[in-house]
Amino acid sequence: MLSNITLHIEDDYEAMSKKATDVFIMALSQKMRSVFGFATGDTPKGLYRNLRTKDPYLFKRITAFNLDEYYPIHPENEQSYAYFMAKHLFDAIDLPQKQRHSPNGMAEDPIAECELYEQKLTAYGGIYFQVLGIGRNGHIGFNEPGESWTAQTNYVPLTQSTIDANSPNFLDPKDMPRHAITTGMRGIMTAKQIMLLASGENKAEILYKALTGPVTPSVPASVLQLHPDVTVVVDAAAGALFPRGK
Ligand code: GLP
Repeated sequence: MLSNITLHIEDDYEAMSKKATDVFIMALSQKMRSVFGFATGDTPKGLYRNLRTKDPYLFKRITAFNLDEYYPIHPENEQSYAYFMAKHLFDAIDLPQKQRHSPNGMAEDPIAECELYEQKLTAYGGIYFQVLGIGRNGHIGFNEPGESWTAQTNYVPLTQSTIDANSPNFLDPKDMPRHAITTGMRGIMTAKQIMLLASGENKAEILYKALTGPVTPSVPASVLQLHPDVTVVVDAAAGALFPRGK
């Protein structure tokens, strides 16, 4: 394992979430006035639940940038990522609306929305601490496997594997949008610190490939091998292919 990557393999989901909370709080207490990037999905729910129990004062000065959003989707749709972050964290910590940023899933022109989101992120000086999950196909955000990486915030067609993984979350799976807007590799890779979370045996192989295999856009998360400061926190099932010991 490369020395820029710190891997914590915890016994189970709860222990993983606790460790992730400690890492997050450590970063937050070092720099309370900074930009935090947030991922959605089942994996970080335990982290966000733990953060909800912390003193809301801690979060008073953060600026939040959501990593991605379906397109098209209304922010009040319960499957939207804007709704997810409000429900799982932002409302509970009383984060003012003006400190919350998310790609607009209702923007008239998704390409123009990507440019706007990229500009906003740049105007805020980029991300200080980015929370990431990993898709079963190795995606980070909605940067899907492909032949090249996209640096900027981009408008992407979702792959069948992502549609299969996420559509059961929709009341009618057919309602899942087939496109998304995602922070690109520049936004992710310029974060000062990255924390990648993974849980469950269906992430074991892709996680191992991403962290130890070739750096390639066909495994988007492999780009993290090039980042200077990545903390990976996983449960034993997701970390099963790594030798145990930290
Ligand atoms: C989603 C999101 C990602 C997330 C990933 C894993 O499609 N776009 O940001 O990290 O899939 O989700 P989960 O944690 O539910 O496995």
